[in-house]
Amino acid sequence: MKEKIVIFDTTLRDGEQSPGASLNVLEKVEIARQLAKLKVDIIEAGFPVSSPTQFEAVQQIAESVDVTVTGLARAVEQDIQVAYEALKGARRFRIHTFIGTSDIHIKEKFRDNRYGRTLKDKRATILKMAQEAVAFAKTFTDDVEFSPEDAGRTDIGYLVEVVEATIAAGAVTVNIPDTTGYTMPAEFGAKIAELRKRVSNIDQAMISVHCHNDLGLAVANSLSAIQNGARQVECTINGIGERAGNAALEEIVMALKVREDYWGFQTGIQVEEIFNTSRMVSAFTGLIVQPNKAVVGDNAFAHEAGIHQDGVLKSRQTYEIMSAESVGVAKTRMILGRHSGRHGLAARLKELGYNLSKEDLQHAYDKFVELADKKKEILDDDLRILMGDEIYATDRHYEMQSLHVSVDTGTTSTATISIKVGDRAVQDSAVGDGPVDATFKAIDRALGTKASIESYQVRSVTAGRDAQGEVLVRIRRHGRLFMGRGVSTDIIEASAKAYLQVLNDEWAYTQEAQNKLTTPVDESFAQTV
Ligand code: KIV
Ligand code: ZN
Repeated sequence: MKEKIVIFDTTLRDGEQSPGASLNVLEKVEIARQLAKLKVDIIEAGFPVSSPTQFEAVQQIAESVDVTVTGLARAVEQDIQVAYEALKGARRFRIHTFIGTSDIHIKEKFRDNRYGRTLKDKRATILKMAQEAVAFAKTFTDDVEFSPEDAGRTDIGYLVEVVEATIAAGAVTVNIPDTTGYTMPAEFGAKIAELRKRVSNIDQAMISVHCHNDLGLAVANSLSAIQNGARQVECTINGIGERAGNAALEEIVMALKVREDYWGFQTGIQVEEIFNTSRMVSAFTGLIVQPNKAVVGDNAFAHEAGIHQDGVLKSRQTYEIMSAESVGVAKTRMILGRHSGRHGLAARLKELGYNLSKEDLQHAYDKFVELADKKKEILDDDLRILMGDEIYATDRHYEMQSLHVSVDTGTTSTATISIKVGDRAVQDSAVGDGPVDATFKAIDRALGTKASIESYQVRSVTAGRDAQGEVLVRIRRHGRLFMGRGVSTDIIEASAKAYLQVLNDEWAYTQEAQNKLTTPVDESFAQTV
């Protein structure tokens, strides 16, 4: 039997920290169910203390899946207690606590003299906080993971001390994060080897790694760590995550599988579910998978050059090291249309990984019929978008009721919009340089908003003249990026929907900010993730 590499998925925690990606609770639960189908070993469902929505998402996921669920907690009692409250309904749960250990984190995030005056004193305080946090988490569960944040840049002698102390306090997994994606593969691998050599009680814990992709090395660093003794990898679907993202789950898993002859390890991952999971995450987050992305990109199995096409026709193995079907890309395109019926739709949605209640299925069917009136062929990507856009959409504070736009090339365009705001309706008109500009200005006039648009993107969801247009709008407010997506066969309508969704997202954020579960322990410490 080959040794197992434990797959810890953090799509719903670190992945959701991707700029502009925000998932509502229903979407998170659906992704968690799909991750369970993919057979990941651990799902990191969120950071419960950080907001009421995060708490609720972790709580609902904990109760919905038969997989170990974990939640992140800073190394303070309040966070750990709240994480436990969110996780306690799970069949199995883990508490994951962390604290920054690199000199730069210690000096900058723990400036307050309460933590000590010199670096030496502050290091001693951090080590004590880490130990106490693990011991406190241990009062709720045996399954405690500790992460010395920015371990990639942490002095090795101090890292050895912290890891040893936290294992002694009861951590059964020690996760070594390359938080800033700074290390090189051989260097990171050597760090893991050094820990194995110098930490006296290392045999009492599993070594995990968590690599960021700032230099494009997250997967290489994770594999190098495995080569040197790590047995758990933390990763995300499509490699999404803070800044340049995390190590991509699908790349690590397929590297281990395709080159099993080289590695000699196995994972428990159901690789045929990789493609569906990738597309579900992309459709819900609005983070588009780049076409040349390894394993799940549109071009990952496309052969363009004549010589390659000729070779593949003779034998696929000439230019393919894995087949598209092996990661779940369907061999033939499934097309639904207005005559497909409720059963046909339900069956296809199930195959794509969506688990709908009876009411949601009825709602999906109504929306499907509406779409089928405008678009003859409905493809998988249309369905995925429909799910995110309609079925899992949470209550919207602002909702478009009608939009009228007139366009005259060469002159200005005019838009008139009516929007439902709570239980009243507001209406206004504006002229603009083009139909989108006029629509955005009409929305601003109607709602009294004025957001400066950081990015505006349009793409077609599938091919064909009647394809749906997907519009993504991003704005920056309160030092944060908000993203909205709108989909329609009419791209002006899609633009209006996207802009309203951004405003809805911002509205929800400001509401939640007023309702924070906790006051930060201290301001500098609060900014750690
Ligand atoms: O990147 C990081 O260091 C993290 C930790 C909280 C594990 O996300
Ligand atoms: Zn991270």
